Amino acid sequence: MRLFFALWPDEAVRAQLAHWARELHALCGGRPTRPENLHVTLAFLGSVEDARAAEVERAASEVTPCSTSLVLDQPGYWKHNRIAWAGASTVPVEIETCVAELRSALARSRIAFDSKGFVSHVTLLRDAREPREMPALDPIEWRLDGFALVRSVALPQGSRYEIRNSWKGRAAP
Ligand code: 2AM
Repeated sequence: MRLFFALWPDEAVRAQLAHWARELHALCGGRPTRPENLHVTLAFLGSVEDARAAEVERAASEVTPCSTSLVLDQPGYWKHNRIAWAGASTVPVEIETCVAELRSALARSRIAFDSKGFVSHVTLLRDAREPREMPALDPIEWRLDGFALVRSVALPQGSRYEIRNSWKGRAAP
């Protein structure tokens, strides 16, 4: 199965991201990510044998889930892959720490993942044109509480992402 770890938005954040995607789509065209698929990838594992999925979950359980606020205040565009995305001018250190812990836990368990450096972003449009100017968009405040293991299922109409498991932070006292 194809797996990745991600920050998964709640309904309110998803609706705001979908709004950004519509605003950007008006400028750049391209293929919007389906709202139910919007996320930040923390580690991309790719194809994993079914029998190893339990080990992936065990590795994830060693990680302290990230409990912090992520403010998405920066739309961006990458020319090399024609992706328009939502990003943060400041990425909280808690997220960087969570990604580092997760990747070390996977490496200790000899679970392979894409080792490209982590760049916090939500892909909003694929095959998009470069906009002349990025629009000003209302910042999105995303209250994070943990992370998810997601399965990507290939369908004729595109990928569908299914949450396989999630790890939550300790609730604030
Ligand atoms: P992207 O959104 O930046 O394109 C599921 O495929 C998710 O994993 C996507 O969000 C994709 O990132 C991310 N991802 C990271 N590395 C990947 C890789 N090597 N192949 C496919 N998807 C990858």
